[in-house]
Amino acid sequence: MSVSDLLSAAAPDDVLVSLFSDAEVRADPYRAYRRLREAAPVHRSEVLPMWVVTRFDDCASVLRDPRFGKSDEAQRIFGSAPDASERDVPIISRHSMLRMNPPDHTRLRGLVAREFTPKRVEALRPAIAAMVDAILDRLADAGGGDVMDVLAFPLPVKVIGELLGVPEADRDQFRWIVRDAAAALEPMVDRATVQRAESASEEMTGYFRALIRERRSEPTDDLIGALIHLRDDDDRLTEDELVATIVLLFAAGFETTTNLIGNGLFSLIRNPDELRRLRDDRSLLPGAVEEMLRYESSVQLDARTALDDVDLAGHRIATGQLVLTLLGAANRDPHRYPDPDRFDVTRTGQQHLSFAAGIHYCLGAPLARLEGEVVFERLLDRFTMIDADRNPQWRPSLTLRGLETLVVSVS
Ligand code: HEM
Repeated sequence: MSVSDLLSAAAPDDVLVSLFSDAEVRADPYRAYRRLREAAPVHRSEVLPMWVVTRFDDCASVLRDPRFGKSDEAQRIFGSAPDASERDVPIISRHSMLRMNPPDHTRLRGLVAREFTPKRVEALRPAIAAMVDAILDRLADAGGGDVMDVLAFPLPVKVIGELLGVPEADRDQFRWIVRDAAAALEPMVDRATVQRAESASEEMTGYFRALIRERRSEPTDDLIGALIHLRDDDDRLTEDELVATIVLLFAAGFETTTNLIGNGLFSLIRNPDELRRLRDDRSLLPGAVEEMLRYESSVQLDARTALDDVDLAGHRIATGQLVLTLLGAANRDPHRYPDPDRFDVTRTGQQHLSFAAGIHYCLGAPLARLEGEVVFERLLDRFTMIDADRNPQWRPSLTLRGLETLVVSVS
């Protein structure tokens, strides 16, 4: 019996376990999502103490409803070691806005949003285009290569590195450090993975504490400089919040965008008719990037805790209970998107949940979109032929969806 047949009849909790633990199911999680959406769209799981929500409208309403928020509850599930509640993995430090509720969330997000304006982001367009062109020159000379290695990782890390002011020579090491730390964002991971994540996170925090010390004696005119100013001169955030914010911006700034580039290019290559349509009509580009985000979202799930008793689609979610919103499932909900499993660069007007929704809506969305647009515009300008292995290996994680490698040939 095929995995599809098995999933189509399985009990919701069996589907969840296979999604969290079976690499073959995770490589194509959409069959499992469909089964959950159809059999139990708002599901109270017995294997992990949480609700699992898969329809677009339900996920959106959980993310937008102020009666749901952040709590330590999620830390007990993600990286679910027995002592998980005691941990404070700095990549998701409790001093970072990602784990805060109002009013602290509002204060901290407001401070960063002031510095991280759409105008500041848009001003980066020519610099990003120049970076992409230099990378594509090398790809052209070689006739191809592993896009993950030569473009999808180095570009976003360079962009966020420049914005923040992280010295160029220091950036490469973070590819593996952030990957190890982000492994703790998976549900049901083993103890060894959690330990690796903890040391990776400590290393990253230590690095940024040292960099902040350095910048206090020699101030710089970048995002780190601006945030230090807000701390030292205006006392608008604590020292722990300063460090956690810089770590969050840096880590969130590339792991996810790397996968937008890889997953987006793979979707185009797998759908040559769509690639052709985009090549013929560049005005489709912004919508095509949205479709890439919807179709193979870099972030597949998010979580909230009920801060009050809430009724959701006929179910009573009690105060303190955790709700997992499967963004990747919501993005393929047929009630929202006709023919949802079709990749269609002309699809318009239907926002996806890949950047979440509500007060934690991704702060870096304009930057991620800009990087996506520039990359695909330059790729299409530069190469009349782009092809790749149609069966590349997906990384084993579910929360952050991306390819291990994507070896392309170009001309
Ligand atoms: C394709 C790329 C990206 C995707 C799919 C993505 C996705 C997300 C998602 C789903 C959230 C919500 C998390 C939650 O609700 O707990 C989020 C939050 C966030 N993202 Fe992104 N992100 C991307 C790129 C970026 C970039 C480039 C940056 C920064 C430079 C960034 C910075 C942030 C920050 C600071 C938050 C926290 C916002 C808050 O808690 O209020 N992201 N992102």
